[in-house]
Amino acid sequence: MSTITIKPLVPVEDALRGDRPIRVLFVCLGNICRSPLAEGVFRHHVDRAGLTDRFEIDSAGTGRWHVGEPPDPRMRGTARDRGLSIDDQRARQAQGTDLRYYDHIFTMDRSNLHDVLFLDPQGANSYRVRLFREFDPDPEDYQVPDPYSGQQEGFDLVFNIVDRTSAVILSKLTDAYQLRA
Ligand code: 4NP
Repeated sequence: MSTITIKPLVPVEDALRGDRPIRVLFVCLGNICRSPLAEGVFRHHVDRAGLTDRFEIDSAGTGRWHVGEPPDPRMRGTARDRGLSIDDQRARQAQGTDLRYYDHIFTMDRSNLHDVLFLDPQGANSYRVRLFREFDPDPEDYQVPDPYSGQQEGFDLVFNIVDRTSAVILSKLTDAYQLRA
C-alpha cells in the first residue's frame, strides 16, 4: 500500500454528515477508454463499500473528437467480462469549470495532467489535480497506458491498473474524510 495521502478538500464535517458529496473526476484524452472505465470501476468500489450517496463521480476527456459517444466497444467488452457495465456513459470534454466543481481530479497520464492544468491558467485549483497512478502500489511510469491503438491485452492491462488503483484511492478518501458506510 502506498504511503501517499489525500488531504480532505471538502469540510470533513459536511462529508461526514453526507450534506455534501465528495466530487471525483477522472480524465483521459478521448473519454472513451481509460477514464470511463475508471469512473465505472471507482463507482463499483464505492457502491460495494456502501458509500454511494457520499460521492459524485464523473469522467471527461481533454479532446473533443468523441463527445457524445459511448465508451469504446473494446473497453465496454473488457468491463463486461469483469462483471461491470459502462455502456450508459457518454463522452464529454473537460472544461475550466471542472477544476472549480470537482474536489479530486485524477488524470490518466502526464499529457492529460498538462492539458487539465492548462484549463486553470492561474493555478488556483491545481491542487485538486493528481496523476491517477500516484496511488498505484505498482506505479511503473505513473501513467495508465493508452490502449486505443493497441490490442486486447492493452485493455486487460488498463482494467487491472484501474481496478487496484481505484481501490487505493477510495481507501485514501475514506480515511481523509473519515467515511464509514
Ligand atoms: P482514452 O483513449 O484517452 O483512454 O479514451 C483514446 C481514445 C481516443 C483517442 C485517443 C485515445 N483518439 O485519438 O481518438
